[in-house]
Amino acid sequence: MDKLVIKGGTPLEGSIRVSGSKNASLPILMASILLEEPVIFRNVPRLRDIYTTNKLLGILGCPAEFEGDSVYVKPCDLNPEAPYDLVKTMRASVLCLGPLLARLGEARVAYPGGCAIGARPVDLHLSALEKMGAEFELDSGYIVGRCKQLTGAHIRFDFPTVGGTENLLMAATLAKGETVLENAAREPEVIDLANFLCACGADITGQGTDVIRIRGVERLHGCDYRIMPDRIEAGTFMVAAAITKGNLLIEDCPDDALDAVSQKLRDMGLSVVSEEGGTRVKYQGHLESTDIVTHPYPGFPTDMQAQFMALMCVADGFGMVEETIFENRFMHVLELVRMGADVRLVGRTARVRGGRALRGAPVMASDLRASASLVLAGLAAEGETHVQRIYHLDRGYERIEEKLCPVGADIQRVPE
Ligand code: EPU
Repeated sequence: MDKLVIKGGTPLEGSIRVSGSKNASLPILMASILLEEPVIFRNVPRLRDIYTTNKLLGILGCPAEFEGDSVYVKPCDLNPEAPYDLVKTMRASVLCLGPLLARLGEARVAYPGGCAIGARPVDLHLSALEKMGAEFELDSGYIVGRCKQLTGAHIRFDFPTVGGTENLLMAATLAKGETVLENAAREPEVIDLANFLCACGADITGQGTDVIRIRGVERLHGCDYRIMPDRIEAGTFMVAAAITKGNLLIEDCPDDALDAVSQKLRDMGLSVVSEEGGTRVKYQGHLESTDIVTHPYPGFPTDMQAQFMALMCVADGFGMVEETIFENRFMHVLELVRMGADVRLVGRTARVRGGRALRGAPVMASDLRASASLVLAGLAAEGETHVQRIYHLDRGYERIEEKLCPVGADIQRVPE
């Protein structure tokens, strides 16, 4: 297993390019199960979760191959079983449920277990699919779903679940009649999935609002689709510029999807400006703390909470971070404290006293965004930070050190 060794203290300067979005790629790749023709995806990040998805697609009868940053998928004879060995390594595997039911009328998908950031049940996915005519039972740890043909339904989610909205969106494209999803997730990745499905012949309107209408069609054809850039990777680079008092031009930055993040950075004293070639984030001599409450899109994203907390540790003043989406997404707190941060946890709120000089230390985290926050803290810290268990980081960032070193970071990947 590898670790990252980071020598902090250098302001990052130059241009850095954002890869394709992990959280858009996962459902969009899974949507190839719905197609009757080959499909090409561009701008797909080479990440562990994407390799897992390609492997799962192969098992489900849709062989998927990388070529450069493109993935070619050729749907053929579908198989309804998503095995536990794969599902346990990637919760997003449950996104094959809707497409399998829509195409085959049956699915056998391992029930995803809990994960480090929270219990993450899939009850909202299942009850919504039941409204469309599916029936479920639990068999030896597998969700076994059956239906004759899914039929359109009026579904109101209790919570705007991202994965639930995506699963239903996919299922409804081939259902009989119209489906209306109310209180749907408005995340940019949901819009990207809907746009992809429309490019294959689906009839969807309202994506990006909380009411999505899907009129079922007979079949979907293939297409050549470019995945949106990763807003969370872009946001992480924005914080890297801020925390190192640097000046970064972030290329292929999805500005519109980052309004809440850019606004917070401006509140903290950074300049964030769109210019030709990308978005420039520049330190302007001071860094003030702020308060953050995570919300579904267009609110402040939970996937940027840990990175902002690292920034607040070094900013002047006192700030609060409230996590409302996941019940256990504070695993970075104690690791940041080991680096000299002053953070206190009270329930789902963290109180961050800023103005601390972080010092390098051996640290590790058990989820993806927590690991990213430790890399950022390491970039700002005096001395050496050793970030262990970086397989979490590699799930969501395409060899992060190869992007950060050319703009001035001193990071080495070494065997642990
Ligand atoms: N929830 C339920 N029941 C459900 C579904 C969700 O109670 O049936 C709860 C979850 O337990 C959680 C909350 O609702 O507390 C939000 O869950 P949601 O379904 O919206 O999230 P997700 O689809 O599981 C995606 C991203 C996450 C991101 C969240 C929120 C992917 C593959 N994952 O998860 O990304 O944090 O939306 O924006 O798209 C990451 O990239 O690091 C990551 C965790």
